[in-house]
Amino acid sequence: MRKQIVAGNWKMNNDYVDSEILVSKLLVQHKHSNTEVIIAPPFTNLLASINALKGSSIKVAAQNMHFAESGAYTGEVSAAMLKSIGVETVILGHSERRAYFNESDDLLAKKVDTALAHEMRIIFCFGEELKDRKSGNENSVVESQIKKALFHLPEADWSQIVLAYEPVWAIGTGETATPDQAQDMHAFIRKTLANAYVQSLADSVSILYGGSVKSSNAKEIFSKTDVDGGLIGGAALDAEHFTAIVNAF
Ligand code: 13P
Repeated sequence: MRKQIVAGNWKMNNDYVDSEILVSKLLVQHKHSNTEVIIAPPFTNLLASINALKGSSIKVAAQNMHFAESGAYTGEVSAAMLKSIGVETVILGHSERRAYFNESDDLLAKKVDTALAHEMRIIFCFGEELKDRKSGNENSVVESQIKKALFHLPEADWSQIVLAYEPVWAIGTGETATPDQAQDMHAFIRKTLANAYVQSLADSVSILYGGSVKSSNAKEIFSKTDVDGGLIGGAALDAEHFTAIVNAF
């Protein structure tokens, strides 16, 4: 059985106080269920969130990390630093990191290796741009992104990988992929995994959809066979909306 996961990527939103308020609201509304719930606040709110969520099943992820172990990388945060405050999961490869911070497939492969060396779980994001979809190249773009960053991994490492398909044209735009578009891509990703590895591995990897998921469309998207949950941006900043999305399963 694949894990069902709903993760909230707060991006660069919420200062320390906002974060405390949102976490306390989530705590009140959260009901333990089979769906794993993760929040990814900014670095400055990670430790406080972890402390506030002690005893709850809501988990905390980081939004990024550097590939190096330590050293002269001003402004960066390492895997060991994250682990030292209890962060076990990291989001890597988000399209905003790729677009605004020039994160390439090669760089992401290094980050993946470092995270795994620190026994961290990875929510690995990828997805095509509008021009790729318009030209019918979405499958080849997605295949290339996951191949270059992940297909060097041995089978055993995949227990630490969660995939998040986030078509760039659907992020923050209000334009969601249709449930069928999401299903088609997720099925393609699973087939690609089965071809590169084995079917049992492909069947075990959770594939999340991200891009304008809201409480109003989550149920339909999550009802698709190969959609195992969501990576939520804007709607994760509101406790009621986020909890309604979690409850859409
Ligand atoms: P939105 O839900 O705001 O479209 O963002 C999706 C996303 O980028 C999550 O990582």
